[in-house]
Amino acid sequence: MSATDYSIVELGDPRLRQVARPVDLSRPDVVLPIAAAMREWMDKRGGVGIAAPQIGVDLQMMIIASRPNQRYPNAPVMQPLLLLNPLPLRYSENLVEEWEGCLSVPGLRGKVLRPDAVDIEFFDLHGRGHLLSLTGFPARIFQHEYDHLIGMTFVDRVASPQDLVTEKVFLEQILPVRMAATSPSP
Ligand code: NI
Repeated sequence: MSATDYSIVELGDPRLRQVARPVDLSRPDVVLPIAAAMREWMDKRGGVGIAAPQIGVDLQMMIIASRPNQRYPNAPVMQPLLLLNPLPLRYSENLVEEWEGCLSVPGLRGKVLRPDAVDIEFFDLHGRGHLLSLTGFPARIFQHEYDHLIGMTFVDRVASPQDLVTEKVFLEQILPVRMAATSPSP
């Protein structure tokens, strides 16, 4: 199996609504090709994260890979990280609003309120458990991808349909205003 054996599953497909099954941690041979396909699709589409259900695989796997790109020019740099059977353990009380996009929801952005930080546990390819504290953009990516593992998308998380905009409007009207607002003054 290679990346071409998979394709990106889009909103409305029932596979995005399933609760994903745990990965068998004793089978890295099963996990590796799926992870490679996820990585390839994520890179091809300029994503900063991806979950296995997005390529139609019903397993608790995600990659988070915060980095600046055309879609997220302000993102911090982070080595792509594969998380198996991830679980949020504790959320910060501080909530922040941010615009999200999704490879499975092409052409749309939505404003979503989420905790600013999250403590998580996950397993790596060797079956070793890890604890990790995420803050800011990586914390948001994790929460967005975790939603995919429980059959949800960011569209389910917007407070109102008015918090949905097209990618074009986001890039042309919302992003420039936000960047001007967050740039340090000279
Ligand atoms: Ni997504």
